[in-house]
Amino acid sequence: MKNNPYLLLRFSLFLLLFALVLGVLIAFAYFKKDLWGAYFPFEKLRPMHVSSAIFWILSAAQGLVFYFTKEHFKELSKREWLIKVSQGLWMGSIVWALASFLFGEYGGREYWEYPPIINLPILLSWLCFAAYLYPVVFAKFRSQPVYVWLWSTGTLFFILSFIESNLWMLPWFRENFIRDITVQWKANGAIVGAWNQLIYGLVFYLMTRISGKEDSARSWQAFFFYFLGMANLMFNWGHHTYNVPAASWVRHVAYAISMTEWVFLLNMLYSFRKKLTHAKKLANWVSYHFISAAEVWIFLNLLLALAMSIPAINRYTHGTHIVVAHAMGTTIGINSMILFGALFYIAERSHATLLARFRKWIRAGFLISNISMFVFWLGLIAAGVVKARLMIGENQPFQVAMKAAKPYLLGFSYAGIGLLIGFGLCAILLLRLLRPAHISQVHQHEPDQNKHSNQE
Ligand code: HEM
Repeated sequence: MKNNPYLLLRFSLFLLLFALVLGVLIAFAYFKKDLWGAYFPFEKLRPMHVSSAIFWILSAAQGLVFYFTKEHFKELSKREWLIKVSQGLWMGSIVWALASFLFGEYGGREYWEYPPIINLPILLSWLCFAAYLYPVVFAKFRSQPVYVWLWSTGTLFFILSFIESNLWMLPWFRENFIRDITVQWKANGAIVGAWNQLIYGLVFYLMTRISGKEDSARSWQAFFFYFLGMANLMFNWGHHTYNVPAASWVRHVAYAISMTEWVFLLNMLYSFRKKLTHAKKLANWVSYHFISAAEVWIFLNLLLALAMSIPAINRYTHGTHIVVAHAMGTTIGINSMILFGALFYIAERSHATLLARFRKWIRAGFLISNISMFVFWLGLIAAGVVKARLMIGENQPFQVAMKAAKPYLLGFSYAGIGLLIGFGLCAILLLRLLRPAHISQVHQHEPDQNKHSNQE
């Protein structure tokens, strides 16, 4: 039996909806810790939100890589049993992790706070994914475009960094605080670098497919970007381990590499958009808009990162909402926008007519989510600036700073509801579009899509 190519994509959309709802719940719990009952205080809801947000990104990225590699390498269809095992383990582990949170079972580390035993099937699932992909990819590695390289090393480094992030379970790592925290944050930084490789690979894939120009994924700029990404993946931990005694040049080099990567990506996205004909923009209007939004978010996050890297400002930003703005600005503004672009690209190609019928809803979802995200992001930055000024600049207690930051945090929380509505709308429409029975029916008509459009 063939594997359902939409299964993991649909699963990722449910995770996104869950993360969005939890995000709104914890945002309002800022003002009253046990707003949602003593059983679900802020401290318990936060890890649940963060884990489901990370699982949304990883599930959608892996599901999309699976979908597009199958198109790229026809031979992969013979190895589908490995994907079935991989996806079964992955989805089962996530359900197990989220259920553990509901039953109050924690025990893991930052971002992966569910019971650590669940990391075992997660690791196995990624090993199965690698076993599915690598034999076919390695046979033709040298001649591959940059997106295949990004997907391959992204998978490899996810596995290595995920193992590294669990080294704290060994006493030698755990028993020395500095060693422990350094390895932990180095691994977390590299995991982000690895998922970025998977996602940036999707950007290159979309750019070549939409423009029809394969050379953009084989150019020297594309491969320079690839090696920059590899350097970032290996060294960006430098600016995550701010509370570990380390030379400040390490941090600055790490910052510089991360920002150069964004500058390159921005440049490539800009030239891609400039060269695109009106007809191609129109044929892929939803994915084109989400990719363009990601471009704006790369620019905004670059500005924030530049500001945060100035030592005089950097001294104030740690532990404030500015860091949360940086984390959510990138995971929502950049990662999630690109993932939506790729998901809608699939829907746009395989069911253009039905998608056109939803046009005004998709446009509403797109606008609501981006406008809300902007207010959301500004609210976090403003709250961070107020808290930094009062707590670090004037040595005021936490409660005083939180009281002063309250109007901005309220703005952020209401904007979060907007984000829930905007992204929620897009996710629900995608759940309606990415359905196997529905799509397979369309595939039969694909050579004659215009005729099909008229019939619908
Ligand atoms: C695609 C959707 C989302 C993603 C990917 C996402 C991602 C994240 C991440 C990675 C963090 C951890 C930040 C850190 O370590 O500093 C976080 C924390 C948080 N998120 Fe979200 N988030 C999403 C949606 C939302 C929404 C809609 C809200 C509603 C207002 C929200 C509210 C929060 C809050 C309150 C925190 C905790 C911040 C703190 O510890 O002070 N998130 N989110």
